Parts: sequence; C-alpha cells; structure tokens
Amino acid sequence: MATLNFDGSKLYRAKGTPKLPPKVALALLNQSARTSSRSLYDPFCGGGTILLCARKYFPNHYLTISGADIDPLAVEATRLNLLDSIPETELLQNIVPRDATKDTLPTGTDLIVTDPPFGRRCPVSEGFLEKAFLNFRNQNVQDIFFCYDGKTPLQNELKRIYTVKEFKRDWGRAFYHAQAK
Ligand SMILES: C[S@@+](CC[C@H](N)C(=O)[O-])C[C@H]1O[C@@H](n2cnc3c(N)ncnc32)[C@H](O)[C@@H]1O
Repeated sequence: MATLNFDGSKLYRAKGTPKLPPKVALALLNQSARTSSRSLYDPFCGGGTILLCARKYFPNHYLTISGADIDPLAVEATRLNLLDSIPETELLQNIVPRDATKDTLPTGTDLIVTDPPFGRRCPVSEGFLEKAFLNFRNQNVQDIFFCYDGKTPLQNELKRIYTVKEFKRDWGRAFYHAQAK
C-alpha cells in the first residue's frame, strides 16, 4: 500500500478542469492494485494526476499506462505532467484526445481508474456515465475504480453490466469499484 509524499500543487491543468487531489488518486490506485487487471487507462484524464500517481507509486505494477480526454488542452496538460516519467514517444501515442462515450480504447485495456466529469464544474447530460461505461464494457474492461458525488444514484444500466461496490468516502465523494459481471 503506497503512502503519499507529494501534494500535486505544481501540476499543470487545462483552464476550467478541476484538479484532482493526489490523495484521491492514490486511494483509487491502492484499491485497483489488488485486482489482476494491469493495463491501466484513464478516459477522463484531466491533468493526469491518476496516471502520474500510477507511475510514481506503482512503477512496476502496470503493463501499460494510457489516458485520454475530450479536451485537447487537458491532453496537453497531462503530457506535460508526465514528461519526466514516460518516454515522449509513448506519451504522444498513449495520451490522446478521445470521447469516452464512443471511441475505441487502447488495445488490451482491462482496468480503468478515473475521476469522471459530473457536478457544477464539469456538467454532463443524464446517463452520461452509463453510456461511457457501456462503451468500456463492450471493449472488455474488467475493473473500473472511480469517484462520484455519492448523491446522484448510479443507474440500473450500469448495475446490469457491472457489480458496483462503494469502498470509501472522502473529499465529498464516494469511491466505487465496478467489476464486470
Ligand atoms: C474531473 S476531470 C478529471 C480529472 C483527472 N482525473 C485528473 O487526474 O486530474 C473530468 C474530465 O473529463 C473530461 N471529459 C468530459 N467529457 C468527456 C468525454 N465525453 N470524453 C472524454 N473526456 C471527457 C473533461 O474535459 C475533464 O478534463
């Protein structure tokens, strides 16, 4: 189990993109490291905190680390934040602009650890998360670890394709593990 030793305050972020505290990223990663899934992807990578923490605290654990965001500026921020820990060619291939609700994931992705958009700062339409999760499930993603406001109910569609268990509350959020049925 990794323990935190940086606060993320110096990380770049795209304007308007919330900054995820490293403690949240680490709580999700500590749980996800217990599964056998090893090809990590963050489809809503924002500033890349989760991906950076994965590199920093679990250097030999993941087979691949990749991420995407619909906002090209967020993709740029993530690339800058990962520049010291991932070779540049891999960064350009593995951190890309992509729409999580419909686009193809990197080959072999079995694990998602993410902080999806919701709430006032990142408004999305109703059913957005379910649409994205359905896309992940259709591409064989086994495990998803994510945080959410803890108030908006998760829809039945999501529970049909994944078993969803809450495992922690912190930073005004509930943390979940969605495991493929
Ligand atoms: C809460 S932020 C993620 C923060 C990030 N996990 C981190 O580590 O810093 C949510 C992100 O989802 C992105 N987003 C919104 N709709 C999207 C979509 N359809 N596909 C991919 N990314 C999307 C936003 O641009 C935003 O950067």
